[in-house]
Amino acid sequence: MRDDTDISAALLAWYDRSARVMPWRVSPADRAAGIRPDPYATWLSEVMLQQTTVAAVRDYFRRFTDRWPTVEALAHAQDADVMAQWAGLGYYARARNLLKCARAVAERGGFPESAAELQTLPGIGPYTSAAIASIAFDEPAPVVDGNVERVVSRLFEITKELPDAKPDIFEATSRITPTLRPGDFAQAMMDLGATICTPRKPVCALCPLSQDCRARESGTAETLPRKKPKPVKPECFGIVWIAQNQGATLVETRPEKGLLGGTVGFPTTDWRNTPIDLPPVAAEWRTVPTNVRHTFTHFHLTLEVRVAQTQGNPERGEFDPLFDPAHLPTLMRKAWDAAVPFL
Ligand code: ADE
Repeated sequence: MRDDTDISAALLAWYDRSARVMPWRVSPADRAAGIRPDPYATWLSEVMLQQTTVAAVRDYFRRFTDRWPTVEALAHAQDADVMAQWAGLGYYARARNLLKCARAVAERGGFPESAAELQTLPGIGPYTSAAIASIAFDEPAPVVDGNVERVVSRLFEITKELPDAKPDIFEATSRITPTLRPGDFAQAMMDLGATICTPRKPVCALCPLSQDCRARESGTAETLPRKKPKPVKPECFGIVWIAQNQGATLVETRPEKGLLGGTVGFPTTDWRNTPIDLPPVAAEWRTVPTNVRHTFTHFHLTLEVRVAQTQGNPERGEFDPLFDPAHLPTLMRKAWDAAVPFL
């Protein structure tokens, strides 16, 4: 195994040849020519990429930056517009924190430049603060996401189970993170994990670190990182009501706290074992033949979809003549798609 400096140099040389192109990314060549990543673009992309793939984020990132090109512009956005643009990305607390953070940053006149200060802002945790500080401000903060956990646990053959292995992985990442080009290094680790050091069938023959990799040497790469088994997710049930009144659709904004908080969708029961059948408006409700399934972080949900045409006054929500299904969160979009043929 080469020493830490040679490992990071080998990875950076690979990144210079192989960096993926992303709309928020400054290429290694441009970076070397002195072009710096925009902290706003870096922050926005990193928040979007939490729990979400690069492929899913690209279009959202473009739409956000077209509409709100600066953190000041985003700080002045309407909450409902941001929630609507976020629809489909999931984990809606991120969108609410995004706005809070934009307003705090605009208020203080720009992003703070250290990981420690960044972490005091809404929605910015240890991973995101380190990613922004290293990519946008050249701080050699160790950046550890799921890809990096995989690369590092294999490189150093860390066999302890996650999450117990997190401190060991952080420490190892810290040792190989260079003081020069720490942001390119962090992104190189992520690209390596996404394209070569993949969960199954890693392509070790193409890996710039194969000669250093302890797990490759002992043939254990594909078994790492080891993870504690996750608890089985419980099954929950509910009813979703989709009503129309002369072309207007009944929608409701969910409370800020809780799942899908702040998003606009259709009224539902609580999601539990035996939902209480209390429709939001008087109507001749019909049940569509297919239920909707959706998995959240901690449970699976099955929703029965009820549809109706009505002239009644709703007890919950309001009829929106301009309703646009493009702005629904995924669960509600599934319900809408199931309902449309029967409306
Ligand atoms: N995943 C999260 N942030 C990333 C980045 N900056 N580059 C590549 N993959 C990422």
